[in-house]
Amino acid sequence: MKVAIDGPAGGGKSTIARMIAENFGFLYINSGNLYRAVTYLALQEDVCWQDSQAMIALVQRHHFDYRPDGAVEVDGKLLAGELRSPQVDAIVSQVSAIPEIRAQVNSIIRSISEGKDVVSEGRDITTVVFPDAEIKLYLDASAEIRAERRFRERLAQKVSDIPPRIEDIRKNIEMRDALDAQKTVGALKIAQDAIYLDTSDLTIQQVYEKVYKILRARIAHGRK
Ligand code: DC
Repeated sequence: MKVAIDGPAGGGKSTIARMIAENFGFLYINSGNLYRAVTYLALQEDVCWQDSQAMIALVQRHHFDYRPDGAVEVDGKLLAGELRSPQVDAIVSQVSAIPEIRAQVNSIIRSISEGKDVVSEGRDITTVVFPDAEIKLYLDASAEIRAERRFRERLAQKVSDIPPRIEDIRKNIEMRDALDAQKTVGALKIAQDAIYLDTSDLTIQQVYEKVYKILRARIAHGRK
C-alpha cells in the first residue's frame, strides 16, 4: 500500500508520516530529505546548482538510500542535521525546481518503494510520484503557524550555534511556498482525490487521530 502526503513546509507532514510508519510498519520516505541531500552535496563539492548537467552528474556519482525512519544515507553515510542548515534551506527550492533533478529523485524514490508498504511525503507525491496511491492526504496550515512550528523544531535540534530567528524562518517558508507553487514540473498542488486537512488549530495527536481513522477505514475497505 502507498500512502502519499503533500503540503507546504511545516504543515505536519513528516511528523504524521513518521507516526504512520511506526504504527503501521510502513517504510517512511521523506522526499524533501533527498532534495536536501542533493543540495548538501552540491555545496560540499562546490557544484554550481545553476549548472543542471553538473547537478545530474552529481546525483549519478552517489548512491542514495532511506533508513526506515525517513533519514537519508548517501554512500552508506547518514546525513541528518547537515540537511537542515540555513545554507541548504537557502537554495533547496531552486535545486528541487530543476526538472532533471526531479526526475532522478522520483526514480530513486520509486525504486526504493517498489513492492513495499510506504508512506511518502513531499510536494508532488500525490500528483506525480505516486498518482495511484491508495491514500492521498494534503496537510496545510497558516504560514504563521508553520513558521512557529519550524522555529520550535530548530530550537530543539540546535543545528547551528547561531540561534534561529522566527522572522527569518517565516521569510524562508514564504519564499519556498512561492517557489514550490511556481515550479514548471512538480509544483505543489492539491490532488483532486486528496483529503485536505487544515492542521492550524489541531495538535499533532488530533491530526494523527483523523489520519489513523482514514487509514483504518481504507485498509478495512480494501480487505472486503
Ligand atoms: O519538505 P522540505 O521542506 O524538507 O523540502 C525541502 C525542499 O524540497 C522544499 O523547498 C521543496 C522541495 N521538495 C519538492 O520540491 N518536492 C518534494 N516532493 C519534496 C520537497
